[in-house]
Amino acid sequence: MKGIVLAGGTGTRLHPLTLGVSKQLMPIYNKPMIYYPIATLISCGIREILLITTPQDTPLFQALLGDGTAWGVEFTYLTQSKPEGIAQALVLAESFLDGAPVALILGDNLFHGKGLSDLLRQEINPRGATIFGYAVNDPERYGVIAFDEQMNPVDLIEKPSDPPSAYAVPGIYFYNSEAPSRAKATQKSGRGEYEITDVNKSYLKDGALNVVLMDPGFTWLDTGTFAALSEASQFVEVLENRQGQLIGAPEWAAYQAGFIDETQLTALAKPLLRSGYGQQLLKALNSYGAR
Ligand code: TTP
Repeated sequence: MKGIVLAGGTGTRLHPLTLGVSKQLMPIYNKPMIYYPIATLISCGIREILLITTPQDTPLFQALLGDGTAWGVEFTYLTQSKPEGIAQALVLAESFLDGAPVALILGDNLFHGKGLSDLLRQEINPRGATIFGYAVNDPERYGVIAFDEQMNPVDLIEKPSDPPSAYAVPGIYFYNSEAPSRAKATQKSGRGEYEITDVNKSYLKDGALNVVLMDPGFTWLDTGTFAALSEASQFVEVLENRQGQLIGAPEWAAYQAGFIDETQLTALAKPLLRSGYGQQLLKALNSYGAR
């Protein structure tokens, strides 16, 4: 399975922070935002990762992430000239995917929780598509799932004014090889975007959409507003400083996935000792031991 991190967009809800720099390069406590979704994909065992960015931000992402060799992965870069919707990513990615199934993750989504990578790994190579449902207080900000009485999904509604349930769809989606052609068949919505909800609805209509409800014990944060950005930073700070957990670290995810070994992880940590991040990597290695 291949992966896509969607890191374009305009980030208008973070202006003026994002007037000059991509939202996905903003800090979430001690790491650039894009580290978190990359670490999530790596924790699923995905090595081939496409990064979709705006034309002006591509060199910055390349400077930050390189070609992925150091983390045992392979990054490919592609630009989206205009932010015309999340579903457009699947069309742009068609030749990169080359018929492979895909995990698409939004560059501003943070997932965390014990057992999360096991939950996600089960959805690799879906028969059709797998999306998740996560109960939130403000479902109207997201794609929302409507269920029948047996909790079978019957509809998906993008940013409904009157949400049919509390279950929002988080920004990680698993698709079989049909995703680019299904995305191509969607029309622009009233807000001028190719909606990922329409791709998911196309699978739903054909009885090929699997909806997995995420336990509230998992954390899903979308970091696209000032408050959300600050809350996500505090979340990471508290768990890392208080409990010594390491959240959203691609180096550590790569080590746990078996993409790099102890010597490579130690070499990655060494130039990062002054900030404390390198110490966190070494501490993780020492506390969890060699694989
Ligand atoms: P959004 O948060 O919906 O859009 P945005 O990032 O442009 O921000 P704002 O609403 O504040 O203007 O996007 C969700 C994620 O998807 C985010 O990581 C950016 C990415 N994205 C793209 O890469 N291309 C697109 O065309 C869109 C709509 C989003």
